[in-house]
Amino acid sequence: MCGIVGYIGPKEIVSVLLGGLEKLEYRGYDSSGIACVLEKEGCAKLVSVKEKGKLISLKGKLAKTKGVSGHLGIGHTRWATHGAPSTENAHPHGDCTGKFFLVHNGIIENYAELKRELIRKGHRFSSETDTEVAVHLIEEYYNGNVLEAFRKAIRRMNGFFAFVMITAHEPGKLFAFKRSNPLVIGIGAGENFVASDVPALLAHTRRVIYLDDNELAVVEKDKVSVLQLESGKPLRKEISVIKWDTRQAEKEGYPHFMLKEIYEQPHVIETTLKALMKSRRVLFENINASVEKRLKKIQRVHFVSCGTAYHAGLVGGYMVEKCVRLSPRTAVSSEFRYENPAINENDLIILITQSGETADTLAALREGKARGALTLAIVNVVGSTIAREADCVIYTHAGPEIGVASTKAYLAQLMVLALFSVYFGQLRGALPAKRANGFMKDFLKLPSQVREVLKQEKVILRCAQQLYQKRNFLYLGRGFNFPNALEGALKLKEISYAHAHGYPAGEMKHGPIALIDQTQPVICLAPFSCTYEKMISNIEEIRARKGIVISIASRGDGEIQKLSHYVFYVPQTEEMISPILTVIPLQLFAYHIACLNDRDVDQPRNLAKSVTVE
Ligand code: F6R
Repeated sequence: MCGIVGYIGPKEIVSVLLGGLEKLEYRGYDSSGIACVLEKEGCAKLVSVKEKGKLISLKGKLAKTKGVSGHLGIGHTRWATHGAPSTENAHPHGDCTGKFFLVHNGIIENYAELKRELIRKGHRFSSETDTEVAVHLIEEYYNGNVLEAFRKAIRRMNGFFAFVMITAHEPGKLFAFKRSNPLVIGIGAGENFVASDVPALLAHTRRVIYLDDNELAVVEKDKVSVLQLESGKPLRKEISVIKWDTRQAEKEGYPHFMLKEIYEQPHVIETTLKALMKSRRVLFENINASVEKRLKKIQRVHFVSCGTAYHAGLVGGYMVEKCVRLSPRTAVSSEFRYENPAINENDLIILITQSGETADTLAALREGKARGALTLAIVNVVGSTIAREADCVIYTHAGPEIGVASTKAYLAQLMVLALFSVYFGQLRGALPAKRANGFMKDFLKLPSQVREVLKQEKVILRCAQQLYQKRNFLYLGRGFNFPNALEGALKLKEISYAHAHGYPAGEMKHGPIALIDQTQPVICLAPFSCTYEKMISNIEEIRARKGIVISIASRGDGEIQKLSHYVFYVPQTEEMISPILTVIPLQLFAYHIACLNDRDVDQPRNLAKSVTVE
């Protein structure tokens, strides 16, 4: 959460910082700000401009502010943790002398104690943030050596954070630090960059250095030095080259990133299959012989993740049960990390995450590793912290996902989980080759089947036009499609702000049925499956109470039309992979309900794409 950028080089600072922040706005958007170095007659002065609200408000303010220019600066887009969204609490934060300005992503856990100490020493605070403590602490420790003051201050702070700082004392440098929250350095020719995430750099460079935890960097226009926080020893860092297509981070004519990303899904499935399936066999580059040896002996499997990725974990649980004949457990990361999990080297923990930076999932990974479990991460963002720390990683190949509501990353997670389950089942001799081949054939049909579902958009829009004013929605599903009931409800809640609840359909009679009357829309996931008849009985129960039935059904199911007010059809497929198809109408339904309610689809209130705080 929160996006950080920094730049040093010949370009005009304001446009570079604003361009970078635009690409990071998905990380938070309640306020933003920049600070830069003005050099006049050999004297360096720092200036800062901040504004509450989205980046557009800051742009408006900057357009009216004279004298903000230069070639070195930092910028920030905020998702509030400590202190309300306001101009005062927006970053960058400065010290008492105005000689240091800093931007921060994360939480300083012992900030209250440090603040009391600094106030006693005479420091004056102008915000409610934990961040401001960091900059005053650096001021307090400054004794002619900026790097030493920066190091010393960081060593006093507990928590998880990334910082970038500028100072009038050494105006040709950016000072950066990373612990748990991501920070990447972009290497240019005669210019260098720092950012929370790669999309902020792509307009300028594809050569990057990923900082690891507890590493500090001093970034000059033609030099980058990285050192270890504790020892101060210089480190040699590898330069990675980013292969993403920059167009992937643009809307390309779609009104929202979310819609564009929904429509990218056939391609995402194709790319994932191409990367992970060779001659109809599943191939994971990162799973070597010693990992395979451990996988054969695993006794328990845990899926650990948050939000939409948690729903993918639930589907993964059903898949592993079917293909591997193990009974996995699925947990949300924030529960798993604090429950003193009874795990050891016989456990496999599968962490699923789009960003690869989610704080609770990262903590769960570390907890699992510390107890000797084998950790496998399914990650979208290449080079992210979780991808680097897990014992092995499988990438989802969805490309950058910008819309805050996850769509294509979820589909790619389901695809990887299906491939992994087939591979794992074969590895352990639980899945016969004939059965595995059958799955492979079904997987190859998915890109065109996903395209076919997308053709339903108009039908879905017409249904949304009838129902968009409703404030409560119920989603029901069974088996492999129960997690999609949760996912459909989450999508609707987060972007339309309507209340929505997902339930296993068999549980309806244990409570939710009380909600049903002629005003209640119920979305029923009912593709052909071993529980199809049971779903039909549930639909009958809803009809008997005059509820509004919206069914997601298999093409060719004429009967369900008679029982439903609206039907969205998906092609028939193997039950295990049907969630890959049935979720698409739910994404489109949520999207259109949100648009009809005039919501901010790509940046819904209170949310951020990458949740790097607990
Ligand atoms: C919902 C959504 C979130 C994320 C969750 C985990 O649309 O995107 O629920 O799924 O915050 O994020 P990652 O996958 O980055 O760990």
